[in-house]
Amino acid sequence: MRDNKSRLSEGMNKKVLIFDCDPGIDDAIALAFFSGVIKQNKNNYDEYYIISTWGNVPLEKTLKNSIICKKIFDIPVQIVRGKDKSIRGDVIFAEKVHGKDGLGGYSEKYFEIAKEEKITDLKFFLDNLENQSSEIEIIATGPLSSTYDILSRKRLRERIQKVVWMGGAFFEDGNITPYAEFNSYCDPEGVEILIEFAKEKKCVYFVPLDSTKKTQIKRDDFLHILETVKNKKVREFISDITENAKVLILHDPLAVFAFFFPDLVKTFTSYAEVDKKAFRGRIYSIISPNQYLEVVYDFDRENFFRSLVSSLNSI
Ligand code: RIB
Ligand code: CA
Repeated sequence: MRDNKSRLSEGMNKKVLIFDCDPGIDDAIALAFFSGVIKQNKNNYDEYYIISTWGNVPLEKTLKNSIICKKIFDIPVQIVRGKDKSIRGDVIFAEKVHGKDGLGGYSEKYFEIAKEEKITDLKFFLDNLENQSSEIEIIATGPLSSTYDILSRKRLRERIQKVVWMGGAFFEDGNITPYAEFNSYCDPEGVEILIEFAKEKKCVYFVPLDSTKKTQIKRDDFLHILETVKNKKVREFISDITENAKVLILHDPLAVFAFFFPDLVKTFTSYAEVDKKAFRGRIYSIISPNQYLEVVYDFDRENFFRSLVSSLNSI
């Protein structure tokens, strides 16, 4: 891969990678994974952004948690304030899983380091992005309310090269209703526009509960795996924020793995529709070859944890 300077000096388009998330404990671990991988492959992109979106907890808390993760994991990103509710305006949070603060009650302990941070407003960020000719790639691990705004802008939509979203349940029960996964339930309009985009450009990957359930690991076993991580601050932070969980499901880290290591996940292609009414967030799909949506249904679990630890040792 060319380095940034040669790409830009040869007039090639800037490459921008956006991480749209709602931290959240598993989003935080995904951001650690993300930080390590982009440090291991530092020439692949020219600019990185985190868009904090509402979801596990209200926007102001996901924003604060994004800044904490940027500092703890030393992520070379700019922070963008995303949407604070769904396209239709309603919100539901997952405080039972992530704590009222979104980080298992540890947001206050770490906020001191995150006080001074320049935050860009979503509209300002997207207006600027529209005026460049960047190539855009997106990892999304929460409700798609902010990504909806990106996909709604024709000049941005045309420049998106790849989207990987943790969300949906295809042949698995939901985790917020019997039929719907949380991110999908939160903003079905966001899911709908992403599916429409997938029909235009075959570059969209869903990472649903069907695969993320296979990341399940006892917290003690996970912390044991992390013992080889040299960065004490990172180990301590992950131990803190997972303190109240006996078992972890690393939904969002799997989306990061699928984004950066596509050869280590298994996918099927499918047609898909999202229910916006009766069974809000439910995804109806049919597996079919040569369809427009790539769905991650399995992955190499050993490689997943090995890549995660390796990336944490690059922070
Ligand atoms: O259903 C799991 C998803 O919902 C994860 O992204 C988790 O962080 C929550 O947002
Ligand atoms: Ca999330």
